[in-house]
Amino acid sequence: MNKKIIIGNWKMNPTSLKEAVKLAKASDKNGAVLCVPFLFLNEVKKVLKKAKLGAQDVFTEVSGTYTGEVSAEMLYSIGARYVIIGHSERRAIGETNQLINKKIKSALSAGLSPIICVGEKERDESHGYLNIVKSQIEECLFGISKNSASKIIIAYEPVWALSTTANRHDATSADSQEMAIFIKKILADIFSPQIAHEMKIIYGGSVNERDAEDFLKNGGVDGVLPGRASLDPKKFQQILKIAENI
Ligand code: PGA
Repeated sequence: MNKKIIIGNWKMNPTSLKEAVKLAKASDKNGAVLCVPFLFLNEVKKVLKKAKLGAQDVFTEVSGTYTGEVSAEMLYSIGARYVIIGHSERRAIGETNQLINKKIKSALSAGLSPIICVGEKERDESHGYLNIVKSQIEECLFGISKNSASKIIIAYEPVWALSTTANRHDATSADSQEMAIFIKKILADIFSPQIAHEMKIIYGGSVNERDAEDFLKNGGVDGVLPGRASLDPKKFQQILKIAENI
């Protein structure tokens, strides 16, 4: 059985370096990737022995006159190996598929694995949401070579199921499985069936210690991307344990 990957998205948490280091130490387990705020990457890296390090965004260019930005090379040089790109919270502040595409290319050329977030805001009865996810993937992966595909992780995160969405509701493992099959088909058309088969698809959207097992067993995915639950070491460790035993 393929090893499952558990990616914690800390978002803009915690509020101090001290707490970040404490949380990192408690979350340092095999199979985990911790995607932490830029400012904490360096110190978190120093305490990680088993978990891998990731960022939550990256800029499109290598270096230069881009005030406030962080390049993929910089991330790689301090030990990050993953980066979340195109999270719905960044799309909500204006990131387009075209910008995300450039960020993915810059991440790949620096040697980072991009975790590309896709997902619809809501589900409609005429299944228009499938087209939304399809064009997100096609536009985000435009011009990406087959050779790079194995480094890419697609995270299906339906916005309506995120813990921070108002009037949210739970997605089921059946929702995840349906979408995972659909995403594999899109990836097969873009790259090849063989490459699509090898690419990782994960699920995110309020994953917690109670439903992780169902998503990992029945959701058709290679891992999960908890946000809120990754801030609670007990919950995060439980999710990792579940993943280990699958
Ligand atoms: P959540 O966050 O688990 O708190 O819903 C997941 C995410 O937004 O990546």
